[in-house]
Amino acid sequence: DPTMKGRDFLSLHDFSRDEIFYFIDLARQLKALQKDRIPHPYLAGKTLGMIFTKSSTRTRVSFEVGMYQLGGNALFLSSADIQLGRGEPIKDTARVLSRYVDGIMIRTFAHSDVVELAQYADIPVINGLTDLLHPCQVLADLMTIVEYKGKTDGLKMTFIGDGNNMAHELMFGGAKAGMDVVICTPEAYRPEPEIVRIATEDAKAHGGSITLMSDPVAASKDADVLYTDVWASMGQEGEAQERAQAFQGFMIDGTIMKAAHPKAIVLHCLPAHRGEEITDEVIEGPQSAVFDEAENRLHAQKAIMASVM
Ligand code: CP
Ligand code: NVA
Repeated sequence: DPTMKGRDFLSLHDFSRDEIFYFIDLARQLKALQKDRIPHPYLAGKTLGMIFTKSSTRTRVSFEVGMYQLGGNALFLSSADIQLGRGEPIKDTARVLSRYVDGIMIRTFAHSDVVELAQYADIPVINGLTDLLHPCQVLADLMTIVEYKGKTDGLKMTFIGDGNNMAHELMFGGAKAGMDVVICTPEAYRPEPEIVRIATEDAKAHGGSITLMSDPVAASKDADVLYTDVWASMGQEGEAQERAQAFQGFMIDGTIMKAAHPKAIVLHCLPAHRGEEITDEVIEGPQSAVFDEAENRLHAQKAIMASVM
């Protein structure tokens, strides 16, 4: 699709429903090629720079391996090592990297830093997670839902936990995919009202809905997809104790599984904390799709990179 080339991938809200499904279809094709070991060097000779100011297992490895499988090269740029970490401006980093590499993936704290990087870079910028959003994850999540359920439209997806980056991006992605998205959090940990407002508009336009709730059992009733994430995100380590208190009762356990549809699947972006947001039984159980979901990060991101770079 020529209209994708050169675009930034900062949020699923920036893409139309058709474009999101284009990524998912391409990701599934790339997955099939990789399973059959058929080479697909769409990015031969190209390089991705990967800036990390936070930890990562999935994002780092799947982008690096994905670039390799596409015939290109990836550079891991830890903020501990590059001059950005010593105060070199984002706008300078953006223009310098634009002279060397063909795309930038960045994982950091402030979403505004990623927007600024994209503004000053001449090459596509891919959001590998900010405090606000995590679009690569939700593209992989939607792909996983399509694989398991054959569709997204009309499905109920209940997120139980913190109104964080995952909750925000699930609202954006779920809305465009025509899903009924329920975000169930303690009252004090609701998602950002502005994200809720925008996602609600998107949902209305695509036959879905956004609902905020605070009762996990009621929120899970007949859900087709259950989703959770850590209670304390990266950067919130100091709040871990008070959050553990506030989120009592917000664990995906046997009671939640009984409330959901008997064929519901369970997703978690990982890393997981067993005994906090999810029980060991559920994450290891027959309805858990978390490792297919993690695998799909690779295929979904290859689709993004092959399209925009
Ligand atoms: N889900 C996810 O983004 O994992 P990492 O933090 O390991 O990249
Ligand atoms: N909400 C989590 C997601 C990790 C993939 C965090 O930001 O740490």
